[in-house]
Amino acid sequence: MKQAELVIDIGSRNTTVCSRGVGVLIHEPTVAAISNRGGKMALVQAGRQAERLAAVKQADFQILNPVKEGTIFHERAAALMYREFIRRAVPYRIFKPKIKVIACVSCGIGNMDKRTIERVLLKAGADEVTIIESPLAVFEGMERREGAFVIDIGASKSEIAVCDENGIIAGCSLNIGGDAINNAIVDYVVDVYRCKIRMSGAEDVKRQIVNMYEGDRSPIVVNTESLHGEDRARIKLTAAELREPVGRLIDKIVEVAFNMSAQIPESIAMDICNGGITLCGGTAYMPGLADYIERKLEIPVYVPDMPETAAAMGALGFYRDKERLASFINVENL
Ligand SMILES: Nc1ncnc2c1ncn2[C@@H]1O[C@H](COP(=O)(O)OP(=O)(O)OP(=O)(O)O)[C@@H](O)[C@H]1O
Ligand SMILES: [Mg+2]
Repeated sequence: MKQAELVIDIGSRNTTVCSRGVGVLIHEPTVAAISNRGGKMALVQAGRQAERLAAVKQADFQILNPVKEGTIFHERAAALMYREFIRRAVPYRIFKPKIKVIACVSCGIGNMDKRTIERVLLKAGADEVTIIESPLAVFEGMERREGAFVIDIGASKSEIAVCDENGIIAGCSLNIGGDAINNAIVDYVVDVYRCKIRMSGAEDVKRQIVNMYEGDRSPIVVNTESLHGEDRARIKLTAAELREPVGRLIDKIVEVAFNMSAQIPESIAMDICNGGITLCGGTAYMPGLADYIERKLEIPVYVPDMPETAAAMGALGFYRDKERLASFINVENL
């Protein structure tokens, strides 16, 4: 029987599906459009197409984000969405191949949440599921090294971990990511300009001007609503004024990473000093962020080419190196 070997990154904002031999097949929003007729849930669309449907007014379906903070928030919708992603990644006509899935998850979730992810992926069509914490997947994707210091800043979480050949030596997951940055921009506008911008507006502001370079005054004009939602006005925001509210969140991540750096064992300290910190996750695209963290921690910081898919691509390596995967998840024969 044919078999397919997939990696699925269980992201709160984006789902990445990679396959051995091909690489990234799907990188789409973790969104499902779900209809519910007579108590029977059905998938209308998944991913980018589902996100587009959010604009449809008076629709007979709901737009759901089935993953929140790295855990499955809506089991049925998640199963339908992942089923669609797996179907797109492994198209077949008659005989279903055996589908193996390595799922990359946040290192802050508990065993119950891991079991839920496993159950959902099995329902979605996987025949075998192995759960791995994201920093280990990023580590696996690096050139062979003794140890790694990984900071993965996604949408809802930051994973900060020191890994060696035995697994994660010290790791934690903070509820700070791109969404918290967007919230900080929204709150700043309320506090300073006494008006509101939408989360989608904050996302645009972030991607267009927010950076961690000192003194950058790039401006952007945004539409706002009054606090009561009636009047509309346009305001000009600059990168310089947003640096403080955004920097406060980044500094929390830096502080945790700093404390963690004290836990790097001597055996891999040299390797980490030379190899540096690997900064990944979509937020790693923020200009100046890597330099800022590097200055604060005095350890070189590198961003891989595609930081948002680094974990999923890294985990593909486990299909070549099953022993290493088995040792990371404490299983003797995988
Ligand atoms: N150019 C950019 N500047 C700043 N942030 C960006 C940029 N591009 C993407 N992002 C942010 O990256 C985040 C998405 O990253 P990613 O796909 O790694 O998240 P995720 O894996 O789905 O989330 P999580 O790991 O928290 O579950 C979003 O918050 C998005 O705003
Ligand atoms: Mg992620």
